[in-house]
Amino acid sequence: MGAGIAEVFARAGLRVIGVEADEAALSRGRGHLEGSTGRAVARGRMTAEEQAALLGRIAFTTSRDDLAGADLVVEAIPEVMEFKRGLFADLDRICKPSAVLATNTSSLSVTAIAATTSRPAQVIGMHFFNPAPVMRLVEVVRTVVTEDGLPDEIAGLARRLGKTPVTVGDRAGFVVNRLLLSYLNHACALLETGLASRDDIDAAMRLGVGLPMGPFTLLDLIGLDTSYEVCEVLFRESRERRHAPAPILRELVTAGLLGRKTGRGFHSHDRDAPETAG
Ligand code: 3HC
Repeated sequence: MGAGIAEVFARAGLRVIGVEADEAALSRGRGHLEGSTGRAVARGRMTAEEQAALLGRIAFTTSRDDLAGADLVVEAIPEVMEFKRGLFADLDRICKPSAVLATNTSSLSVTAIAATTSRPAQVIGMHFFNPAPVMRLVEVVRTVVTEDGLPDEIAGLARRLGKTPVTVGDRAGFVVNRLLLSYLNHACALLETGLASRDDIDAAMRLGVGLPMGPFTLLDLIGLDTSYEVCEVLFRESRERRHAPAPILRELVTAGLLGRKTGRGFHSHDRDAPETAG
């Protein structure tokens, strides 16, 4: 999601530093941005000059130290608490004292992430939705130690980015993923009972409820690893059986079939590859 979030900020005229772990990831991120803005040009939503100016506002680097002068950092790394805590401890050391450190976590505790820094009052959740340039919501996640006024400031920034903010407390899954992943996990469980096929469940929810995507297409878009992690966190917090990740979700993640990002998940996203779960 990092590339999508960078695009959102650059579209609003802000300067962005895109940091990736290595050159390969950086090149994928840059390609994603060029593809997404290229589509906007092809559809007449943006001129080639505007695209060039937008891309020109984004600097690409593999060095976290380049964030020393940033006013705001939005972290969008995998949903593993250990990685997040390590990164935030680093950011706390690198970034100027006034910088706000935001996390795009889907479900992890913002409070626990904030506690690894010397500035927990300036750590906040800024949760975008996939694809970030299209989806209009940002969940602003405040913790018990968030500085007064910071949630409103971040909500104002979200509006400047063309998004609608909602402010939520720091509970697993916040609002959207708490409700959405219960539904998506239930769809996986239904598939396993043999009640209906993958394509029929997708079609049922798309055509019967008017959703833009059926559950398995959406799971592939979100990423099965992220979906799995959100279910795990919801289960750990609630101990409710319905949140326990469905076995098929675990199986696909173990097999490395993570959805669109790997070319295959519940559906195949590569025309030559076989379909996964019928
Ligand atoms: N990046 C940038 N723009 C994109 C894009 C992407 N990855 N995918 C689609 N778009 C743009 C298109 O360029 C097009 O723009 P235009 O209207 O200006 O021409 C517009 O979105 C519509 O795209 P398409 O016509 O190609 O396709 P659809 O009409 O089918 O829309 C969709 C695609 C917006 C992805 C739609 O299917 C949808 O809304 N799906 C549901 C997505 C959803 O629920 N996301 C939330 C997931 S939960 C989450 O992210 C939280 C996390 O923490 C787990």
